[in-house]
Amino acid sequence: MSRITFMSGENVPLEMHKVRMVQKLNLLPVEERAQKMEEAGYNTFLLRNRDVFLDMLTDSGVNAMSEDQYAAMMQADDSYAGSETFYRLEKVLQDTFGLKYFLPAHQGRACEHIIARALVTPGSVALMNYHFTTTKALITLMGGTVEEIIGDEGLKIESSAPFKGDIDIDKLNEAIKRLGKDKISFVRIEAGTNLVGGQPVSMKNIREVSRICRKEGIILVFDASLLADNLYFIKTREEEFKNVELIDIAKEIGSLTDIFYFSARKLGTARGGGILTSDNKLHTKMREFIPLFEGFITYGGMSVREMEAMAVGIRETVDIDVISQTPIFVEALSGELVARGVPVVTPPGGLGCHVDAGRFCDHIPQDQYIAASLNAAIFIASGVRGMERGTLSEQRNEDGSEHMAKMELVRLAIPKRVFTLSQIKYTADRIAWLYNNRQLIGGLEFVEEPSVLRFFFGRLKPIGNWPELLVKQFRKDFGESL
Ligand SMILES: Cc1ncc(COP(=O)(O)O)c(C=O)c1O
Repeated sequence: MSRITFMSGENVPLEMHKVRMVQKLNLLPVEERAQKMEEAGYNTFLLRNRDVFLDMLTDSGVNAMSEDQYAAMMQADDSYAGSETFYRLEKVLQDTFGLKYFLPAHQGRACEHIIARALVTPGSVALMNYHFTTTKALITLMGGTVEEIIGDEGLKIESSAPFKGDIDIDKLNEAIKRLGKDKISFVRIEAGTNLVGGQPVSMKNIREVSRICRKEGIILVFDASLLADNLYFIKTREEEFKNVELIDIAKEIGSLTDIFYFSARKLGTARGGGILTSDNKLHTKMREFIPLFEGFITYGGMSVREMEAMAVGIRETVDIDVISQTPIFVEALSGELVARGVPVVTPPGGLGCHVDAGRFCDHIPQDQYIAASLNAAIFIASGVRGMERGTLSEQRNEDGSEHMAKMELVRLAIPKRVFTLSQIKYTADRIAWLYNNRQLIGGLEFVEEPSVLRFFFGRLKPIGNWPELLVKQFRKDFGESL
């Protein structure tokens, strides 16, 4: 993606790709959108895709693939053991991240499962910039706990800090001193910190955390699922890397970590996952879980076709035109919203635009799931499907009380090279309308609440008849428009 200056002086994100295969979209009238939201229990995970106009739920497994990725899928070597596809993918990963061993797994959380099995013991603590839902659930499952040591800027909705995902080095040192290194299962850095707004981690911070972990003999785990965006930010926001090739940035990150894992639904724009390490002992320890939980060690539960697509996708991750599209579109959507007074996380990060539901709906009590309410309202107003990233995405405390999220966000994910600028403008327009009518939005309460990862399939209902009022106002303001 290039920023081209128009004659007017305006900087416009210009796509450095053309679209040659399309999927027809369906925009239902507002009344039907409200009906579909009700049927889905006010949980956007439970909507059917055919009822969704712009699917901004996630970038996971839904990024646009390149023609080279599709071509590679045709040449896959389908065999249970010793597939050439595995060796091709392994070589690309070794060449890109400079790590020796590759263990395949069917997606990111499968990697987390293997790592947790290998490293987490009951009572141990995993220190990390910030948790991800599946990471925390799997560590907890193995009897460990998670402690977050992100810098204070990371938890501010509005900030000018370029790397809000950075670990606070003082908090890291303090935690090591307090807990003792034997109680720490590992330190984890999550690139493009998902739950705080897709915020990047700087190379400076990765270097320092790695130095401390190596000095203390603590394993450093790096979650590279959102590395594509993070690479872009290191190159564009960290002066030292302005003229450094992306592949050299990727290699340096690899060299600083003990275990490097990723969801290839995100990194590599395919579907699958993998763990890399250069440590023979760690490799052996984790390897034994692969045939048990994933599949043989040359496919790890993945289709060889996806593995071929992943190999090409990983190579394309070090192409600035490929990886810049999401961050630049996130900036465009965030910019449009800020211009209309809508509160969003700043500076814009990767992954998606994050609307500050806490401020947008400051009239809704936090235990009525503010971000989930706004997310449902956005779907009714626009047909855009976002994802709740707030209290609903948290697990309850052991005593059954609500664990209130530090941030109440609605994430509007921008999968790579999927949407156009006019779709971005439409989204901003409808959310701005909703902001002007925000007092109409009310809270939600559970009807069915699963005990684990409840946000995936929990069902809720509105407190009061606010969805009806929203539809009425929409009709009043937009007339016959969808
Ligand atoms: C940072 C991060 N880690 C891990 C995962 C889990 O990956 P997957 O969805 O492939 O299981 C995700 C998925 O969104 C993620 O964003």
